[in-house]
Amino acid sequence: MCGIVGVTADPDQIPTVTPMLIQGLKRLEYRGYDSAGFAIIECGSTELKIFKDKGKIDEVVSKYGVSKFCAVSGIAHTRWATHGEPNRDNAHPHTDCKQKIAVVHNGIIKNFAELREWLESNGHVFKSETDTEVVAHLLEHFVSKGLSMLDSLRRALSMIEGAYALAIVYREEPSRIYFARNVSPLLIGVGLGFNMVSSDIPSMLQYTRKVIVLEDGEYGYIEPYKVYIEKEGRLVDWRRRVVTIMWSLEDAEKGGYPHYMLKEIMEQPRALYETYTGLRSSAEISDAAELIASSDKIFITGAGTSFHAALVFAYYLARFAKRAVMPFIASEYITYSGLAERDSVLIVVSQSGETIDSLQALRAFKRNGSKIIAVSNVIGSTIPRESNIAVYTRAGPEIGVAATKTFLTQVLALTALALRTANLEGSLNDSEYAEYFDRLANASKVAAQAIQSASKTIERLAVKLKESKSMYILGRGLGVPLAYEGALKIKEVSYIHAEAYPAGESKHGPIALIEPGFPVIFLGTPPVGELHEKIQGNVMEMKARGAATILLAVKGYEGVKGVDVLINVGEADEILAPYALMPPLQLLAYRLATALGRDPDKPRNLAKTVTVE
Ligand code: G6P
Repeated sequence: MCGIVGVTADPDQIPTVTPMLIQGLKRLEYRGYDSAGFAIIECGSTELKIFKDKGKIDEVVSKYGVSKFCAVSGIAHTRWATHGEPNRDNAHPHTDCKQKIAVVHNGIIKNFAELREWLESNGHVFKSETDTEVVAHLLEHFVSKGLSMLDSLRRALSMIEGAYALAIVYREEPSRIYFARNVSPLLIGVGLGFNMVSSDIPSMLQYTRKVIVLEDGEYGYIEPYKVYIEKEGRLVDWRRRVVTIMWSLEDAEKGGYPHYMLKEIMEQPRALYETYTGLRSSAEISDAAELIASSDKIFITGAGTSFHAALVFAYYLARFAKRAVMPFIASEYITYSGLAERDSVLIVVSQSGETIDSLQALRAFKRNGSKIIAVSNVIGSTIPRESNIAVYTRAGPEIGVAATKTFLTQVLALTALALRTANLEGSLNDSEYAEYFDRLANASKVAAQAIQSASKTIERLAVKLKESKSMYILGRGLGVPLAYEGALKIKEVSYIHAEAYPAGESKHGPIALIEPGFPVIFLGTPPVGELHEKIQGNVMEMKARGAATILLAVKGYEGVKGVDVLINVGEADEILAPYALMPPLQLLAYRLATALGRDPDKPRNLAKTVTVE
């Protein structure tokens, strides 16, 4: 939920690391943004300066004039509160009693209460309510016993239980940054005349493309010309683990759009094209489908948007492979992991690959002997690394907190997986499979057309709907998971209550809320022949009670009566309908948010990657 960065540089190459810390941290703001802070070692002295406060990064930077300070090394943090309310004391970095050691942390230290009690009984004085502060005092404790900082870190880590990505500066060793990783993500960026650590790739791209993904249990330090990693007391040979990241910096920036969310909606055609091309040229899908086809029980899980992609998979697997799959929300894993056995497979959908609920589900199933397939957008993240097979989407970094392009790329990968399973199960023969798979090549075009044809109408619709307190989104078949995802997007960024239901179920309760003008959005999905009449019935039920009816539909629904606004998203069959319907729904959420003056990139109370249960 938090993001951390640390940089150390040779002053002859890079006179001050302060701008790198600020820029690097800003690219992590999607991980949380209720407070921010910096600890720097000032140029020309070994003074440790701390600037931290409640608020977004820019606010903290300008309040303390952080950019004016020259630094040889430093660490920085953007916070999403887990222990202690957002305020200055609880903002990171946290320091020891003598202000010689500063620590930034992402994760949760489970046994912090016992450690704190022990440290307090040894005379340490705490300044915050956070779990993190124990790390600074633990290090101080061992250093004061005469241990080196590296030894102190080894000792401290052996006492800490929980999840952490840590970066530490120590006044006595100004050009070194210590780090440690367990569960929470942490990477090293290898540069020329500098090295850095960060929670995620976007903060490195402007400075280096050479990255080492740290593994659980690894710790060490960086200096401007040195990377030192250890695990369980043994030196780690990291040189072969350096990967070159091909994402352009522009990928991680707004690309001229006012918000990341809009940019990411608009770049879906490209993300879909790259995901399709990547999957076509790799063995991931076939390997994963073989595992599914040979499994007795199939489960799929995810959180938030990723769970909705899981529901789309369940639809396609039933339709094409005639196999049942049990989808469950990741945080409910305790109930379902008991059903897992050696012949089961669990598909874990997670764009970040780090969501703790999904990771817990994975681990619980694994313990019961189940095989695991990950569908993720982040290479080297924890969920794919702990899975038997990883299928990657190629959406590029997604900065907007609300998932958009990663959803449709997940849908594409999962559709490919369902089709290939159908092929292995014999319900699609080889040529049918090839024909269906090739259709996915058009996902990109279908999304582009839908964006183009629906944009203007959606903008006008948002102006009409922005005063609504609540709305329904109803669909049938494939329209159900898409409706769930549309309603989630609207809630997340506009804060308008939006609820999705299978259209047929709406008369079993939800219809009681309908009064004149209550907006109901219907999704018209293929197969049109089977669904047209049923959707028509549901529209009339709502219209008869005065609802404002909107129909967002693929070609073929033009004749539906009782519709106030019809948005035709173009021609799309059962395989391609998600790419036609989802971008207009995402755009509606975006336009509602901006029409109401909300910041869609930073919705209140939400974080992009949720690493606490
Ligand atoms: C958070 C984000 C959502 C996301 C969910 C799952 O709630 O705000 O946008 O869908 O986590 O994230 P994952 O990275 O596992 O797909």
